[in-house]
Parts: sequence; structure tokens; C-alpha cells
Amino acid sequence: MALFSTLRKRAADSASYHGLHEPDLALHVEDLTVAYEGKPVLWDIDLNVPPGVMAAIIGPNGAGKSTLLKAVLGLARPTAGHVCIHGRSPRAQRRRIGYVPQRSSVDWDFPTTVLDVVMMGRYGHLGWLRWPGARERERARRALETVQMEHLAGRQISQLSGGQQQRVFLARALIQEADVYFLDEPMAGVDATTERVIVGLLKELRDAGKTVIVVHHDLQTVRDYFDWLAILNVRVVAQGRVADVYTGEHLKRAYGGRIALLEREAFEGPRGPDAPQENDA
Ligand SMILES: Nc1ncnc2c1ncn2[C@@H]1O[C@H](COP(=O)(O)OP(=O)(O)O)[C@@H](O)[C@H]1O
Ligand SMILES: [Mg+2]
Repeated sequence: MALFSTLRKRAADSASYHGLHEPDLALHVEDLTVAYEGKPVLWDIDLNVPPGVMAAIIGPNGAGKSTLLKAVLGLARPTAGHVCIHGRSPRAQRRRIGYVPQRSSVDWDFPTTVLDVVMMGRYGHLGWLRWPGARERERARRALETVQMEHLAGRQISQLSGGQQQRVFLARALIQEADVYFLDEPMAGVDATTERVIVGLLKELRDAGKTVIVVHHDLQTVRDYFDWLAILNVRVVAQGRVADVYTGEHLKRAYGGRIALLEREAFEGPRGPDAPQENDA
């Protein structure tokens, strides 16, 4: 336990933390390059996430955030580089990994029920040719309860709102009982209540010692929700503790002029009468 907290502290103390060895890190990505049709969309990515943090990955549209998660999970093939989850290959660790894909990338017309989607989360644990039994169903029902969706267990997934779809996916990730969770924009396009439920659950996972890595779309909430941050735009612009990394300079480097308005509010809050006036000399 002491080692764990020392490591966490050490990792948190430095944005480069070369002192940490791969096995100590929840996620270690080295020299990762991914190209689609010969065009690199991720270039020479080095990324480290210590265990037990709630980490955000942010960056503009097309920055390669979803591709990064897919490459880490073995769903996109890198041209170079390697990935370790708790010191071993993602393949070797697949039971310790939970994944919630970007909602828009899922075929929601697939004819299946909410409960079935959640139970799919257990297949990695059951092994081939073992269908989920009563225990697994009970587990899935409990996970649905946790996300306040138990009343919709029998519904077709095509008949869910965006927020409900996201909760179903979260329930599916929860019953995987993973150590490292990857979520791709879980809070995009959901209502405020769902967002609170999701953030609450993710923080509980983090507080239980799990590592939660979230591609996040909303700059305004980065500092409230997360303690670790990686800013991405094809390359890694910056990574480390949110307090060190979430700066106007880094955001500008990643987003260019596109965040001018958003950024001012995120840093200073909405302009009040006491706000200093800008000189446009
Ligand atoms: N399967 C694919 N084939 C070709 N290009 C892709 C594919 N998936 C993503 N891309 C391209 O790769 C870049 C990064 O995409 P993505 O990882 O989805 O970015 P983000 O999630 O940050 O918005 C984009 O330019 C996107 O158009
Ligand atoms: Mg994406």
C-alpha cells in the first residue's frame, strides 16, 4: 500500500516521471505511430498514466483521440511503437481492461436488449462456449441498477435515448470488473443527470484504486472531473497533473484559435463588471 501511494505521489510530482518503470504504470505508450492509408494520425506518442487516477485525454476533432484508445486496445494497428497496461501487453491484460467506445461508432439498430448488451461485458470472463447463467444475469441486473436503468432491462437498445445508451455501456464496463477503464466521450450529448451519474461512478472507481482514462470533449469541466490530463493533437502536446498541464499555452498549442471564447470562460469564468478590461493596443 505504501509503495502504491509513493508511486502515485512520485508520478504526480513530475510531468515526465522517467523514474517510474513500466510495470508501475497503468498505461505506458511508447513511440506509437498510427497511420490510415499512409497518413499518420498519431505521431510518435509517448504517454504515461499512473495507477489510481482519473485521466482525461483532450484535443480537437480529428486529433486522434479515438484512434489512440483503439491502438491501445489492439483495435487499430500501429505502424510503430508499443503499449503496456500494468507492465504487460494489452492482449495479456484484456480481462483487466474495460472499454466504452464512442457512442456514434456503435450500431444501435442491432436487435438486442439492454440486459444482453450488459451481459456481453462478461464474455471475456466466461470463456468460450459458456453461456451466461443466472449468476451472470443477476450481476448484469445489479450493474443496471447502479446506473439507474434496471427498469429498462428488457428494452431494445434501438429504443433508448443517448443518455440511456451511454448508461448501458457504462453498466457493461462495470461488470467487467476491470482495473483500467477506457471511455471514449462518455459524456458527449447526454443530459445533466446522466453526466452526474457517470462522473460519480467514475470517481468511485478511481477512489477504489482503478485507473479511469476518458476521452473528454468539454474543456469547461476538465478541472472539476479529472486529476490527470493528456492534451493531444496528432502528437502529445502535454501530459501530467491537471494543475500543471491545463494551461492556456498548452490549449492554444493543441486547439489553435478555435478555443478563444471557451478558453476565457474556462479560465476566468464569465466576464463580470469587475473583470479587467483588455487593451487592444
Ligand atoms: N478507419 C479510418 N480510416 C481512415 N481514416 C480514419 C479512420 N478512423 C479515423 N480516421 C481519421 O483519423 C483522424 C483521427 O480520427 P479520430 O481518432 O477519430 O480523432 P478524434 O477521436 O480525436 O476526433 C481523423 O482525421 C479521421 O478522419
Ligand atoms: Mg473520437
